[in-house]
Amino acid sequence: MSKTLTTMSLILTLALTAPVAALADAEADAKQGKSEKTEKTGKELFESAEGGSCSTCHHTTNMLKVGPGLLDVSKRHTDEWLTMWLKDPQGTWRSEHPETLELRERTRKLRSRATSCVKKPMDDETRQKIVDYMGTLLSTPAAEPTK
Ligand code: HEC
Repeated sequence: MSKTLTTMSLILTLALTAPVAALADAEADAKQGKSEKTEKTGKELFESAEGGSCSTCHHTTNMLKVGPGLLDVSKRHTDEWLTMWLKDPQGTWRSEHPETLELRERTRKLRSRATSCVKKPMDDETRQKIVDYMGTLLSTPAAEPTK
């Protein structure tokens, strides 16, 4: 009888501590920027350290902050370019990609040599959410899909 009790309390302890341990792990991962799954939306990521603190340097209007305002950024850039930029802003800055040339020309007065846009290591899902979020920053909102 007492053996059964011991076993039961052991199971109970494991069942209770496992989720807590998993949560602590996830938090540690998030701090190191290697969290695989995030519940945050693109907007939340854009505004949080986990996503790279984009909002520290970018307004979502067309006002300049440290970097350009990102209103209508998806009209200036393809998703491919945005993804490439987020993976490696410095490398993209040095490339002769037409969208980079346009950006360099547009920001010439700000700085001349390298970009100061952050390179934040992030998983594909996080990056995609941020790219998708940038696609919603439109001066003329996309028409509501008809049901
Ligand atoms: C430390 C400031 C800083 C942070 C943080 C930052 N950026 Fe930037 N970003 C810049 C600057 C400055 C530029 C313009 C290029 C240049 O002149 O260096 C830029 C350029 C860009 C561009 C091109 C804009 C255009 O008009 O073509 C995009 C897109 C962009 N950043 C997205 C992001 C995203 C998304 C994040 C968060 C993951 C982020 N940035 C974080 C400073 C920053």
